[in-house]
Amino acid sequence: MNNPVIPVLALDGPSGSGKGTIGQIVALKYGWHYLDSGAIYRGLAWLAHQKKVASDDVSGLVALADAMTLVCHVRENDVAQIEINGQIITDELRSDDAGQMASEIAPIAQVRAALLKMQRRCLKAPGLVADGRDMGTTVFPNAEYKVYLTASAEIRAKRRFDQLKSKGFDVNLARLLESIQARDVRDSSRAESPLKPAEDAIVLDTSELSIDEVVTRILNLID
Ligand code: C5P
Repeated sequence: MNNPVIPVLALDGPSGSGKGTIGQIVALKYGWHYLDSGAIYRGLAWLAHQKKVASDDVSGLVALADAMTLVCHVRENDVAQIEINGQIITDELRSDDAGQMASEIAPIAQVRAALLKMQRRCLKAPGLVADGRDMGTTVFPNAEYKVYLTASAEIRAKRRFDQLKSKGFDVNLARLLESIQARDVRDSSRAESPLKPAEDAIVLDTSELSIDEVVTRILNLID
């Protein structure tokens, strides 16, 4: 369970809601640590692919999860740099395929249990911004600050499109929208820690808000 003296901002929401960009700005502002929990699921799916562990081989996935280490390096104006088992694999994890593979293994209860310990170990002074789907509901239920970001699927697909395009990925907007909608359904309908706002979370629809406006609201909440 999280230590109540170390502040945590649990920042949850669906893909493309702005959690990564906004979470890192807030973490940099306060000098807090940043946990990109989606990168853990993406990283495990990537490792499984590398080691030829099938997505339904539960004990194989748990063994990989138990041995996995993750470091999130916060970067200004960019996605966080992700180091898994000592290797930087940020770009490999960003593709839409990696997101789909992550959401296929994410419903497995034993996998989530193995990854829970790793996520809680990220709670260190002076504070933590934890970005994900179940930060406020399951991983850090006692978090002092809980914000759930959302936006229409069309706007989230367009943001993801711009982000992937700027990284040189060959992307198609209609296909990205379909994939985001499929991932929303899978993430919100699973039995284990489904995507949903914690009862005590502040819900912010970012469809019509700029990054600065969202950041200002979150900083006002923390200050
Ligand atoms: O946030 P991101 O798109 O990187 O997450 C990839 C996938 O990992 C999500 O679609 C979801 O299935 C899974 N995930 C999760 N719980 C989290 C973070 C991500 O189940 N806390």
